[in-house]
Amino acid sequence: MLENVQNLQNQIESTTLATKEDADKFKLTHLSKKGSIQELFKAFREVPPAEKKAFGAALNALKQLAEQRYTEASQSFESESVLGENGDLTRSGNPHDLGSIHPINAIKDEILDIFKRIGFNVSTGPEVEDDWHNFTALNFPEEHPARDMQDTFFVQRNPDWALRTHTSSVQVRAMENVAPPIRTISPGRVFRNEAISSRSHCVFHQIEGLYIDKDVSFADLKQVLMYFAQEFFGKAKIRMRPSYFPFTEPSAEVDVYWGLENEIDHKITKGTGWLEVMGCGMVDPNVLKANGIDPDIYTGYAFGMGIERIAMNRYQIPDIRLFTENDKRFLSQFKTGL
Ligand code: DAH
Repeated sequence: MLENVQNLQNQIESTTLATKEDADKFKLTHLSKKGSIQELFKAFREVPPAEKKAFGAALNALKQLAEQRYTEASQSFESESVLGENGDLTRSGNPHDLGSIHPINAIKDEILDIFKRIGFNVSTGPEVEDDWHNFTALNFPEEHPARDMQDTFFVQRNPDWALRTHTSSVQVRAMENVAPPIRTISPGRVFRNEAISSRSHCVFHQIEGLYIDKDVSFADLKQVLMYFAQEFFGKAKIRMRPSYFPFTEPSAEVDVYWGLENEIDHKITKGTGWLEVMGCGMVDPNVLKANGIDPDIYTGYAFGMGIERIAMNRYQIPDIRLFTENDKRFLSQFKTGL
């Protein structure tokens, strides 16, 4: 019997393990459940008692030997495959692409920071809104054209709900949640049922500002907008053109004086030297009343701007659709924000 162990040991020692296939075959022949070593273990019963001890010890040693040969061989194949045939430890690894900050987020963060520095807190509201928050509490008359199906995506199951058409709805939520003084800035996505083109999209982003306190005046509004124009655009001059929004009275469009020094200035400002950046105004007393704030005690101002337009201007992006296409060739150009 011991002879059998000796024969097998010779065989195991002399087998060449040069390739992975050799090693696999070796494992199957000697180390598997039906392999040669197990066969000998099965024969253990038939070994005469006097020889059992020696046989057992020899067989265990043989098993260890076989396992060691197999492990060594397969480890050498593994390290070979990691290094390649001519293993080169100095070769650089596979590159990982680094992400970049989306230009919309970069602009949004920059604008929020500017207002946070002068005491505005950041607030957000839901993207699905009811008629009250999106329209009624903002003094939209019942028959106002902005409520028209053409502009607004209504929720089919409940037409009182709609995707918010502007972040002004967050003003209402702010007034509901806290008593004045209120000084808040609200970024968010808004939705309009408009044809998609290079300048217009049905999903875009706005930032809304709201300030309510005692004795807030139009001069305060103008001052804060001049601060913003200086910080964001590096421009000192603004103008305010009379306009109309249901929730502000008086209302204005704000233009920043850009200049007309070169061809790009002409392009950006369409030859006027002025860049339109946002809408604003003094919060209409009806809006204050609708939200439980006494307009005889408090006044306020509000403003709202579209982020895409500002980003398109800042980075000279010709088509608004580029923001949502997720094309890495476009997005990777904004790595500097990291
Ligand atoms: N909600 C307006 C829009 O979507 C933008 C706006 C204008 C917001 C004037 C304001 C404001 O807060 O005072 O076009």
